[in-house]
Order: sequence, then structure tokens, then C-alpha cells
Amino acid sequence: MRKTKRAEITKDTKIPRHIAVIMDGNGRWAKKRLLPRSLGHKEGMERMVGMMEHAFDLGVEYMTVYALSTENLNRPKEELEGLYNLVRKYFKVYIGRVCEKGVRFKVIGDITPLPVDVQGILREAEKETLQYQGKGINFAMCYGSRAEIVRAVNIAVAEGKKVTEESFASLLYTGGQPEPDLIIRTGKEVRLSNFLLYQAAYAELYFTDKMFPEFSDEELDKAVLEFSKRTRRFGKTDEQLQ
Ligand code: IPE
Ligand code: IPE
Ligand code: MG
Repeated sequence: MRKTKRAEITKDTKIPRHIAVIMDGNGRWAKKRLLPRSLGHKEGMERMVGMMEHAFDLGVEYMTVYALSTENLNRPKEELEGLYNLVRKYFKVYIGRVCEKGVRFKVIGDITPLPVDVQGILREAEKETLQYQGKGINFAMCYGSRAEIVRAVNIAVAEGKKVTEESFASLLYTGGQPEPDLIIRTGKEVRLSNFLLYQAAYAELYFTDKMFPEFSDEELDKAVLEFSKRTRRFGKTDEQLQ
């Protein structure tokens, strides 16, 4: 039987400038294989690095990855400790691999609840990549969109200035960056779980049943190809877009 050829990214594919990913499903991936959740997170971290490398190779400029939500901070202590240990053990090498190609690393979220040494590792990655422009990773750690919005409101109040949509956006962690064009969620759930609520206003949403460790480069290509087929009207009619 002749195999049908898998759709591929070509020079005509529209590549999103900014992709944001809710990397969900590590725990269920592990559970299905009778492995501890921590191994699911380890696998997820490896996939995250591979996914980001592939995305930058495709020409994506910004990758925002949801690593830990404010709500996730209520998970069992052992699970959180396992996640912090992953950062301690692998983060520098893994993120270094992506960033050495000229990618700036930025934490989005309030990481003050994290162990001090873990905060230090993340801040160091930011410092070491400060010189890079044009390509960026937003690492959403202890991130909650509501907290981000409230923080921005408080900055505006403290400055005593009325805001516009644009000036308000500049007070968010993602200020100065293009808005996410494509938001991907793995792991079967169809919700945003407090992720980029302001920035997502006109993002294309893509949900997949794949658990994050299964979200291969080919799966990312599929999401980008789907994005490329969509018509973004931004409120206009098709005729206006002509
Ligand atoms: C997402 O995977 C990663 C984090 C929230 C840290 P989960 O840990 O939520 O995996 P599931 O949803 O339990 O499968
Ligand atoms: C969202 O996943 C957060 C991250 C992937 C980091 P959750 O697993 O926390 O989402 P809910 O609780 O199912 O909405
Ligand atoms: Mg989950």
C-alpha cells in the first residue's frame, strides 16, 4: 500500500512569530507507563528543549513555555521538590544549548516562592543572555495571568497614569514582544488554566490529545501547518482582507 505523504512545512507555510505552549500531561504520560510523575517531568523537560530548538529552526522568534503555574505551587511538596531538582540538575546545560544560538531567556512570573538557589539559576540564565535580541524564550515559572495583570495594574496606579491598551500591555511581563500568534495546549484538556489571558486576545488556539512528552517535532509541525491554514480576520470581513 502506498503511504500518504505527511504534510510538511514549506517556504509557503506561515510561521508564527510567537508560539506559547501549555506543556500539560507529563504526569499522565508517566502514570500510563507505571513510572513516577517525576520521570514524566524529566521527559517533559527534555522535550521542551527539543521543541524550542525546532521552533527556532523554523523561524519562530519567541517561545513562551508554561512550566509551573501559581496554582501548581499547591501541589505536594515532593512533586515540587522533584521539579526544583530538575532545574538544579539540568537547567543550565539544557537551556544553554538553546540560548547559545542567540536566544534571550526571560522568566515570566513571580519566582520569589522558589528555593533561593533555584531562583539564582534562573536569574543567571537571564543575565547570561541579556545581549541577545530578536529571539526569546519566556519561561513561565510560578506564573499566573491574573497575578500578572494585577501586578501591571498596581504599577500603573503607582505611576498615577491612566493606561491605554498598548501602554498596559507594555507593563506585562511580555511587554515589548509580539503577542502570541499560536497557543498550543497538549494533554487533552481544553482550557487556558490562567495562561496569557490578556495576550491571548487574538491568538490562534490549538489543542492536542498528545501528552507533552509525546509532542514531537512532527507534532509541532502539524500545529504550525494548522496555524498557517487559518484565516486571521481580527474582526474584519474576508472582503476587507483582500
Ligand atoms: C504539566 O504536566 C507540567 C506541570 C504542571 C508542572 P502535569 O504535571 O500537569 O501532568 P498531568 O496533567 O498530571 O498529566
Ligand atoms: C497547566 O497545567 C499548567 C502547566 C502546564 C504548567 P495544569 O495541569 O496545572 O492545569 P489544570 O490544573 O489541569 O487546569
Ligand atoms: Mg496537568
